[in-house]
Amino acid sequence: MTDCLGDGAGDMTPMDLYEKLTSQGDTVRTLKTEKAAKADIDAAVQLLLKLKVDYKQVTGQDYKTGCPPSECVVSQDNGPAADGEDMVDPWNVSTTNAKGVDYDKLIVRFGSSKIDQELVDRIERVSGQKAHRFLRRGIFFSHRDMHQVLDAYEKNKSFYLYTGRGPSSDALHMGHLIPFIFTKWLQDTFDIPLVIQLTDDEKYLWKDLSLEDCHRYTMENAKDIIACGFDINKTFIFSDLDYMGASPDFYRNVVKVQKHVTFNQVKGIFGFGDSDCIGKIAFPAIQAAPSFSSSFPQIFKGRKDVQCLIPCAIDQDPYFRMTRDVAPRIGYPKPALLHSTFFPALQGAQTKMSASDANSSIFLTDTPKQIKNKVNKHAFSGGKDTVEEHRKYGGNPDVDVSFMYLTFFLEDDEQLEKIRQDYASGALLTGELKKRLIETLQPMITSHQERRKQVTEETVKQFMTPRPLNYSF
Ligand code: TRP
Repeated sequence: MTDCLGDGAGDMTPMDLYEKLTSQGDTVRTLKTEKAAKADIDAAVQLLLKLKVDYKQVTGQDYKTGCPPSECVVSQDNGPAADGEDMVDPWNVSTTNAKGVDYDKLIVRFGSSKIDQELVDRIERVSGQKAHRFLRRGIFFSHRDMHQVLDAYEKNKSFYLYTGRGPSSDALHMGHLIPFIFTKWLQDTFDIPLVIQLTDDEKYLWKDLSLEDCHRYTMENAKDIIACGFDINKTFIFSDLDYMGASPDFYRNVVKVQKHVTFNQVKGIFGFGDSDCIGKIAFPAIQAAPSFSSSFPQIFKGRKDVQCLIPCAIDQDPYFRMTRDVAPRIGYPKPALLHSTFFPALQGAQTKMSASDANSSIFLTDTPKQIKNKVNKHAFSGGKDTVEEHRKYGGNPDVDVSFMYLTFFLEDDEQLEKIRQDYASGALLTGELKKRLIETLQPMITSHQERRKQVTEETVKQFMTPRPLNYSF
C-alpha cells in the first residue's frame, strides 16, 4: 500500500486514505495515553482532521472507524440482490416476474438516473432530430450525466462514443444488435467519433476458449458490427489482444486504473473470489481504459479531456461505476452513460436472449423460415388458450414476447399502439400478432445478412487500423 501514497489526497485511493486515517487515529490515541506534549498531540489531531476532509472529498462519505470505503460504496451503490430481487450483473440476468426486470428498482439500486420525458425532449431539441424509438419507448431507460454531455455540446464542446462487445462465438443474435443500432443513431445524430472495444481477452479469461478462437470471433463479430452501417471515417474498432500491445497510451491508462482500484473493491463490485484467476481481477481496468480519450492519441491528438459517452446494456454498469470512481483520481473526466434494458428470450422476459441456447434466440444467420418457426413455436404468448376466451378477455401485451419484440423494432408509434390495443381487447389473435412480428423481422435480418456479405476482410482491416478519424481535436 505504501507505494501508492503520494503527497496530496489526489494521488490516493479511498483505501489508501482509509488506512492512513486509521493509523493516524491510532497515533493520536497513543500520544494521548502516553500524555505526550500538547503541541505534538495538537499537530497529530490537525493531521487527522485534514485527512478526514480529504477522505470526504475523495469518497463523498464520512470516515467511519471499521468501515473501509469499498464496503461502504458497495452497499450504497450495488447491493447484491436480496431475496426476491432481480439478479443483474455482467454475467447473470434473471427475475421471477414475467414482465421482466423491474428497471425502476434497478435505477435506485445502481444509483443512476431515469431517462424521463424531459431528457428525451431535450435530446430532440439539442440534436434537432426525432428521438430514436429506443428512447421514445424507454428501451434506453437510465443514464449517468447525460445532461452534462448536452450542456457541453450546446457550448460546442464535442464528445465521443464508446461501446463494445465480448466476442464469445460466431453467432450473434438480435439482442446483440440493440446497443449498436442505438450507437449508430447517436453517431449520425451528433456527428462524433466512436470507438468499439472487442474484448477477446475477457472471453479468453472467462470461457473455455483458446486465444486463437477468441481472436477469430473478434474478426467475425466485427463484420456484423460494421454491417450495422458505421461510418469508416468516424469509427475505430479494436481487439484488446491486438491494441493493448500496440498502444503505449492505452496500456498506461490500464495501469493507472489498476493502481487505483483495490482487490477489495473489485470483489465488492464484481463478486470475484479467491479462486478466480488474476486475469479476471485485473480485467475491469481494461474495460475502463477506452473511457479516457488519451487511450486513443491517434484520434484525440493526445487530449485527455474529451468527454466519453457509453451506450450499453445495464448489466455493464458495474464496470463503469468503477471507472467513474477512479476517473477524477487519475485526472480524467468521468464517462457518461446511457443504459438499455435487456432483449428478452423467446421464452419470456424472465431472462435475456442467450447465444448458448439456440431456442431462446433469433440469430443474425437465421433464414426467413427459421425465424418464422422459432417465433411460432417458442415466442411466449400473453394470449388466452382458446380463440373464444381470447376474443372475450383479450391478451396481455405486457408479458407477450412477440409484442415486446415489436416495441424494439416496429418504427411506427401509431401502428404499435393500435396493435397493443387490439391485442388487449381480443380483436387481434396471437397468431396474427406473431405474423406481424415475423414480417417485421424477416426483411430486417435478410438485409443485415446482405450488408454483412459486402464487408470484406479489407474493410475490417481498415476499421481496425489505429488511425486519425475525420475530426480535428
Ligand atoms: N464486457 C462486454 C461484453 O461482454 C464488452 C464491452 C467492453 C462493452 N467494453 C464495453 C460493452 C463498453 C458495452 C460498453 O459484452
